[in-house]
Amino acid sequence: MAKLYNSRLVNATKMVKDAHENKYAIGHFNINNLEWTKSLLEAAQDSKTPIIIATSEGAIKYMGGLKTIVGMVNGLLEELNITVPVALHLDHGQSVEMAKKCIEAGYSSVMFDGSHLPYEENIAKVKELMIFANDHEVSVEAEIGSIGGEEDGVVGEGELGDPLQAEEMSKLGISMLAAGIGNIHGKYPEWWKSLSFETLEALQNACKLPMVLHGGSGIPQDQVEKAIKLGISKINVNTELQLSFRDATRKYIEDKKDLDDHGKGFDPRKLLAPGSKAIKETFLELTKWFGCQGKAK
Ligand code: 13P
Repeated sequence: MAKLYNSRLVNATKMVKDAHENKYAIGHFNINNLEWTKSLLEAAQDSKTPIIIATSEGAIKYMGGLKTIVGMVNGLLEELNITVPVALHLDHGQSVEMAKKCIEAGYSSVMFDGSHLPYEENIAKVKELMIFANDHEVSVEAEIGSIGGEEDGVVGEGELGDPLQAEEMSKLGISMLAAGIGNIHGKYPEWWKSLSFETLEALQNACKLPMVLHGGSGIPQDQVEKAIKLGISKINVNTELQLSFRDATRKYIEDKKDLDDHGKGFDPRKLLAPGSKAIKETFLELTKWFGCQGKAK
């Protein structure tokens, strides 16, 4: 727990366990910069909502590295006096080494995504990571099957998770399990119909763990609610915030407010303000669906 000692960050274990027991889901929101982080933390605090803020490996590079992110998040927690539970999570960690680096830097939660590895290798790596993560009281998310997404311009559906693998993973002490259930990262293509609830049910019966729904942007509300009833306890959202930010920023520019030199419409604090507000609004709308608003104790 050494790295968490001076931090208000908590791991995600308790959050997702409570969500699982009480049939709601915690929102996992990917961050890209200061505005994203600040907007999410303020909206979480105002609505008394526990939150997982996450960075992909790409976002870590973009933001200038782990120390920058951990420093920024811890600074904001303190300076904005954020008292709701907040976990800082590595999203889709591609190696055990990267997950360990994040833990050493001060992340309170990590995902190891071994979905592209042969299953035996995936499980061996999760086992290896668990020893280090347990020593640091950091929560771990593993993945089986795979999440769909775009590759070479073609959107694929991913691979459905296997209940036997889910059961085996559940014995490793992980806090949550992500699985392919027909979900897709990014915008859902026109041909996409539905999550595979049959698969979700079978996986949940096999592992009995809080489960993670990746590709949380653009899934209809009734499907989100059904998935939560069937064991989804964490929902990952990235694209939806990016689209809200894009739309609000586009409007500011189309209204030519950035060209108002006398009003200093070019000041990034003004230029980025509508997008930041839009992030808050989207957070509030989605967390209402997820049922996690007001759950900070
Ligand atoms: P979306 O970008 O589709 O919301 O997916 C986010 C995600 O699953 C991050 O792990």
